[in-house]
Amino acid sequence: MKTRHVDIKGPNGDYRVEIGPGTLEHVGSQIDTLFSGSHRGGYAVVTDKTVGGLYAEAVRTSLASTGRTIAVHSIPAGEASKSVDELMALFAFLAKHRVGRDGLVIALGGGVVSDLAGFAAATWMRGIPWIVVPTTLESQIDASIGGKTAINIPGGKNLVGAFHKPKAVLIDPTCLKTLRPRDVAAGLAESIKHALISSPDFLTYHEQHVDAVLALDDTVLTELIERNVRVKAGVVERDPFEQTGERMTLNFGHTIGHAIEANCGFTLRHGECVALGIVAACRLSKLMGLLTPTVVDRVPTLLSRYQLPITLSEPIPFELVWETIARDKKSRGQQVRWVLLESIGRTRISTNVDEHAVREAYESLFEPGG
Ligand SMILES: NC(=O)c1ccc[n+]([C@@H]2O[C@H](COP(=O)([O-])OP(=O)(O)OC[C@H]3O[C@@H](n4cnc5c(N)ncnc54)[C@H](O)[C@@H]3O)[C@@H](O)[C@H]2O)c1
Ligand SMILES: [Zn+2]
Repeated sequence: MKTRHVDIKGPNGDYRVEIGPGTLEHVGSQIDTLFSGSHRGGYAVVTDKTVGGLYAEAVRTSLASTGRTIAVHSIPAGEASKSVDELMALFAFLAKHRVGRDGLVIALGGGVVSDLAGFAAATWMRGIPWIVVPTTLESQIDASIGGKTAINIPGGKNLVGAFHKPKAVLIDPTCLKTLRPRDVAAGLAESIKHALISSPDFLTYHEQHVDAVLALDDTVLTELIERNVRVKAGVVERDPFEQTGERMTLNFGHTIGHAIEANCGFTLRHGECVALGIVAACRLSKLMGLLTPTVVDRVPTLLSRYQLPITLSEPIPFELVWETIARDKKSRGQQVRWVLLESIGRTRISTNVDEHAVREAYESLFEPGG
């Protein structure tokens, strides 16, 4: 099958996203093509222990054909690795292998790997090139697109980071077959979010391809990923450094979603919290006189067909959720800016949302059927 591609325009040049089965096994030749053979330095592959065990050998074999030095660095899987300690260990690895400005960092893994490796590439020798080979659906359609990189510190998640766009993103949908179904579903919540903020047609696409997507059909996944990349790329191109407010629209479902995530004691995945946040944000949009009831009912039906939660089985009191939302924003000196939907594909940002409406929308998650 031929790969598809999306070219993302940026203030400092464009970069290509290649999508298709076999991309991962052909990383070496893809790099040669993308860089027109001009890349001369060694490769520093950064992965996590799980992904490395599954795919590092295939990537190493493919890179070996280019004849340059290859070193692989594995971090423990999981969010805890987006840390200062892991960053220092990665710098030590880059130093040991004498990775210079002509080197190339290759991030092979989910968003944890790409955020850490991308931030290391952004700061090592004041910035060296990197590419991403994202291996979770969430990272293929979200984290790897847009050039944001970050690590966590005790004061908060993603507080230390940089905008450093990769030279290329190489997406292989076949590697999703080794993910747990629950992790695939978590990525689909972001895909449905992209549809809701961008186009009715993309939402219908989700409704028409449930079985093929859940069966991880390569052709359908390739198209689904491409469409997602186009949505995120469009937003990022119009607002590369989060200045115009357009990137805010990507936060749809995330205000309540994040607050649930922060209070659920790690029982729910990020994407599952986003699914709940999407349901609440749609109901909030209806309460604010925007979305029609028919549209609002379509969304939870679709999310549950993709095996995502639409009710909170262990209700978290509204007061806790509200406190988290207020604290998050206050710590950044900002007002809460709600991303609402006027209709599918049309968002509206509002700072004028009543606490009672938020409570009603959130507490609807306690009851089956809202
Ligand atoms: N930079 C951005 O714009 C951006 C956007 C969204 C999210 N993020 C960040 O992304 C991170 C979450 O990323 P994620 O959801 O990809 O999680 P992740 O990187 O933690 O991966 C989830 C789990 O799946 C495993 N895994 C990955 N690929 C696999 C595969 N193909 N087969 C089997 N197992 C596999 C990993 O080892 C890990 O255990 C968060 O830290 C978040 O802050 C960043
Ligand atoms: Zn998200």
